[in-house]
Amino acid sequence: MPRGEFHLFACRSGEAYAKKIVQQLVFLLDQRKQELLKKKSPTLYEQRELAFLRNTREKGASLGRVRIIHFNDDEMNVQLEEDENVRDRDVFLIQCPYNTASGLTLSQNLFETFNFLDALRHAKARSITLVSLYFPYARGDKQHGKDGVPASLMANLLTTAGMDAIMTLDLHADQITGFFDPVKVRVEHLHASPLFIHYFKDTLHPDAKVVAPDTGAAKRTQFYAQNLKREMVLAYKKRSYRVKHEVDDLQILGDPGDGSVLIIDDIVSSGGSVIKVMDELAKEGVKKAFVACTHPLLIGNAIEKLDALYNDPKHPFTKLVATDVIPHNGNIKSKPWYVEIDTSRFIAKAIYEVHTSGSLTKLHQPFCVGKHDLWVGTDKG
Ligand code: R5P
Repeated sequence: MPRGEFHLFACRSGEAYAKKIVQQLVFLLDQRKQELLKKKSPTLYEQRELAFLRNTREKGASLGRVRIIHFNDDEMNVQLEEDENVRDRDVFLIQCPYNTASGLTLSQNLFETFNFLDALRHAKARSITLVSLYFPYARGDKQHGKDGVPASLMANLLTTAGMDAIMTLDLHADQITGFFDPVKVRVEHLHASPLFIHYFKDTLHPDAKVVAPDTGAAKRTQFYAQNLKREMVLAYKKRSYRVKHEVDDLQILGDPGDGSVLIIDDIVSSGGSVIKVMDELAKEGVKKAFVACTHPLLIGNAIEKLDALYNDPKHPFTKLVATDVIPHNGNIKSKPWYVEIDTSRFIAKAIYEVHTSGSLTKLHQPFCVGKHDLWVGTDKG
């Protein structure tokens, strides 16, 4: 059962996304209240949930007030406002660690997260769940030669800073959950697949193939292929680990056909990997390539490269459909090839379930978005 109202806070780069979460929480609270009010004989649990919903007004789903002082030497200080009381409360802290619209770097966002967790811990919060839907450094999940394992370091640093749980979306590799000590930290690992499946189920060509851009993506892509009832094709990618993120060679395993494909990638960063996959698919005769991507980092000149491909009539690149967990400015949203899926109601539902000791199982079901009314839409209507 909920142990009191919602206490939501946001780091600077997470603020715009957190406001969408607040709006969707208010919607969900109301929807659930109406649902429970209709029940003729609610269970004891439901009666208690209804009492919680009645007590939770606007205040229960608004953002806590903080002052973040960012000094000239790049140090920072996070202070909760005097009248913000989180003693013995369950708190959610929302952060978008990679945010091209905020003007803050990934490292600055990380240090702000550490400071924020520390401030909440010192303010005696009972539990702190960090909602960081992109997990930075996730691609550093194994050692190659004499480097470290930054994904594991990140898990340790966030734990040390004071979080009790992390809610995240499409970790680069499932096994990253094992980098957290289960005695200290709960990992709520969600997947964006129900949102993408909802978007593509009626729009994807019946003969389209679903493509895994590398072997690491095979399991995730199989889930899409099975539920969209399409065949799967695999791109086998060899990387040079001297230059970590560069692709040396790529082979398409399976028949992609000569129509449409849907490529499923968790991250599009420089765009190099997905472009190489599309180039190879084009050689095999593919005419249209759609890309579904959870974390569109789009660094460097990725946008310009995709723009050029979109404007090349011989190239199959058609659309990049991405989530809004990596905030971007309006420049990219105006691109005809870019579609941004709003994840806020889906994530608000997860926050509601965690806070009310409910269950996240339903959010792992491939068709849960339509079934539970979790679709807000896309920036293209
Ligand atoms: C690789 O394993 C990831 O899933 C992404 O495909 C990759 O990291 C994207 O990086 P980039 O866009 O720079 O090739």
